[in-house]
Amino acid sequence: MLQPNSRRNWLKNSAAVLAGIGIAPNLWAIDYPSKNSAGIILLNSNENAYGPSAATQRAMADALSNSNRYPDDQIPALKKQLADFWDVGTEHILMGAGSSEILGLTFLMVSGTKGNIISAEPSYRVWNGQAESFGLKVNRVPLSNKKMLDLGAMLSAIDEHTTLVYVCNPNNPTGTFVDDAPLRNFVEQCSKKCMVLVDEAYTEFAELPSLKDIAIKNPNVVVAKTFSKIYGLAGARIGYAIAHPDTIKRLSSLQPCPDVSISMVTAAAASAALKDQDFVKDCRNKTMQTKEMCYKTFSELQLESIPSVTSFVMFNIDKIGAGFSKQLQEKNIMVQYREHFGGKWCRVSMGTIEEMQQFCSALKSIG
Ligand SMILES: Cc1ncc(COP(=O)(O)O)c(C=O)c1O
Repeated sequence: MLQPNSRRNWLKNSAAVLAGIGIAPNLWAIDYPSKNSAGIILLNSNENAYGPSAATQRAMADALSNSNRYPDDQIPALKKQLADFWDVGTEHILMGAGSSEILGLTFLMVSGTKGNIISAEPSYRVWNGQAESFGLKVNRVPLSNKKMLDLGAMLSAIDEHTTLVYVCNPNNPTGTFVDDAPLRNFVEQCSKKCMVLVDEAYTEFAELPSLKDIAIKNPNVVVAKTFSKIYGLAGARIGYAIAHPDTIKRLSSLQPCPDVSISMVTAAAASAALKDQDFVKDCRNKTMQTKEMCYKTFSELQLESIPSVTSFVMFNIDKIGAGFSKQLQEKNIMVQYREHFGGKWCRVSMGTIEEMQQFCSALKSIG
């Protein structure tokens, strides 16, 4: 029988192989070790260490006993709440099991014509294997020298076979962002040629405006939102699209029936989480505090880091070496190791203040 560590490595390697041959890897398989392991500090998946909020947990507990019923009333009520929150109509919203489902539906929608997708490099790429298995080639456009989305180069990369441009702002894994005005201009320009998918998973951390106002009017633009990050509901699996009603209809026709992936408990969670904006504010503030703590440690150790507006930071570990994440793992701290820009980098998600203190002292003891 495989030991836990070798099992994890096996899963990780298998995921890499599957990704290589175009089969979508299992997100959960990459995310090791078991989240139930006591004392493990998970700083590798950009989860929210504080969530779900107490009010959200109470709402989930209250909804539990209704789980024998379909959420026929709860989903329309949640959509109305979201529509009011964003000042759009309910016809502009489609629910999914995380924004991953929205991303997947959008790739499926454009896959009829095959062709290519333009994305930044590095950017969020868990969806790449799925898009490739739909017959779409991912054409990656390097970030600028400032490690920001190179909007001009991405626009120029569109050719007659491009079916979609994926834009993640703020960008994962760099945590950098482009300003609202150039982004809007870019999305408008791209949408004249193909679909544009705007991934807003981390906008709340930076209080960036949503591009939902473009999306509700322009059938070629989909905005993907999630409850997994600042709302602390990654495990509840809930996200949504904001788009033009015609686009929402096209996307929902790819689900067994519209909004079908949301459970009674998840709907209650999202509804309570959306109301709990104090929690959102608190998470944003604590994230800023922990990032400052990390930046201070990086600068003490003379490690280059990328200023981030999100809940994670990338820092360079060329000086320490690729074994760094393994050394941290031995101290029960999980981070992500990355090779980018011709060097070795580590992406660390912000945990609680105590967790980040432990991370910083571990880093000091290794670096
Ligand atoms: C940029 C980005 N988009 C989408 C997702 C998927 O999130 P979920 O499916 O949990 O909403 C993630 C998760 O890490 C992400 O970083």
